Amino acid sequence: MSEETSAAKARNRTVTLTDNVTGKSLELPLLSGTTGPDVIDVRKLYQDTGYFTFDPGYTSTGSCESSITFIDGDKGVLLYRGYPIEALAENSDFMEVCYLLLYGDLPNSEQKRRFEHDIVYHTMLHEQMHKFIEGFRRDSHPMAVMVGMVGALSAFYHDSTDITNPRHRMIASYRIIAKMPTIAAWAYKYSIGQPFIFPRNDLRFAENFLHMMFATPCEPYRVSPILARAMDRILTLHADHEQNASTSTVRLAGSSGANPFACIAAGIASLWGPAHGGANEAVLKMLEEIGDRSRVPEYIKRAKDKDDSFRLMGFGHRVYHNYDPRARIMRQSCHEVLEELGMRDEPLLDMAMELERIALEDDYFVEKKLYPNVDFYSGIIFRAMGIPTSMFTVLFAVARCVGWVAQWNEMIEDPTQKIGRPRQLYTGVAERDFLPLAQRN
Ligand code: SDX
Repeated sequence: MSEETSAAKARNRTVTLTDNVTGKSLELPLLSGTTGPDVIDVRKLYQDTGYFTFDPGYTSTGSCESSITFIDGDKGVLLYRGYPIEALAENSDFMEVCYLLLYGDLPNSEQKRRFEHDIVYHTMLHEQMHKFIEGFRRDSHPMAVMVGMVGALSAFYHDSTDITNPRHRMIASYRIIAKMPTIAAWAYKYSIGQPFIFPRNDLRFAENFLHMMFATPCEPYRVSPILARAMDRILTLHADHEQNASTSTVRLAGSSGANPFACIAAGIASLWGPAHGGANEAVLKMLEEIGDRSRVPEYIKRAKDKDDSFRLMGFGHRVYHNYDPRARIMRQSCHEVLEELGMRDEPLLDMAMELERIALEDDYFVEKKLYPNVDFYSGIIFRAMGIPTSMFTVLFAVARCVGWVAQWNEMIEDPTQKIGRPRQLYTGVAERDFLPLAQRN
């Protein structure tokens, strides 16, 4: 996609910027994509005017051109390569979605068989990584283990780190998708002092992951097909989400030419934050702190209090000003899993439903368009599956790594791509002379 003939269409439309003091004006091109907001192309703004744009948090900034995922936050729409998330969650599976995000189309039967085979045959870890993981304390947060182990993959897999080689890029992408569940399951086993369970080539992705999480060498372990299906659907729902904080972190790290494993480790670090992927863990902690549905109004009041730093975890979103379509699907899965496990009366779900009901009726949340997001229900499902709270964001990372590698590949393949290097509005001290020590008071 070159600057002149990118897929984004310069429809000979411009916007005019005028400095009301100097009277100087500048015409800026308006670009249109397939759908969604048009963009003002400011790439030449600084060289033509000496001005920067200013947009902390990037609330109004498009960082790149992408054809992978589209979100309409006002309508609550999420498309992966044009397919609605609802259709994919209902009719597809995570391996198909991985192929779709990486290659742009759903696979045919042979492509799917080949892809699943190639992923399965990359699920094992280098034996030396046993020693690496054993360097962590047993009580390390599993996200710390994920950051360390995934970053360390670049020390083991040198043969797929030449980012200019498309084959290397795809091998590294497959390795990341395939090895994340193994690393995640081993981080959990290590934390509970149980032996590592190796991946099995006869199991499908989600089933293999749950088997590595919960099997022991002492007896055969059968993964519930309902839980495997629920896990597979949750992975699909979390697979990609446009230019969120962790994906933008991966893109920025990758723009310097860093190897893919280091870039994905950076994405994991960003996802860890409670404002982002760490919210699912924070939702469970919040529900456990509320403790009883009778205390829900007290916490709703706190969430609205400007002087109280408490926020309703699992509510609100930078982009969605409607119900997060993933939360709607997750809500349905939540009921199905709890029904299947005979936990229909799970108190946390009961409390979550009460919290959701009150919040959706409350003027503060309605006016600010704060709706439940993807993290609101996922923690309840994971807890019902027996997954410890500290592992919730790890599962988010297992899913999101396919979005990260797809976006990373798209960035590397973009001919206009250059190192990301934002500027600033400097409000520090103006230049001053050095003050020798003897003269400082
Ligand atoms: C994910 O970007 C992605 O796509 C992320 C994600 C993905 O798939 O990658 O969707 C995954 O990260 C989902 C979000 C998970 N985070 C949480 O659930 C944490 C709780 N939510 C908030 O921290 C917050 O809503 C954010 C961080 C998600 C969004 O914050 P914004 O866009 O910066 O919005 P904001 O903080 O400016 O809030 C706007 C207003 C503020 O009030 P005012 O200052 O205008 O008076 O809404 C209030 C906020 O105080 N507000 C909340 C709130 N979220 C926003 N008030 C109470 N509870 C909340 N949860």
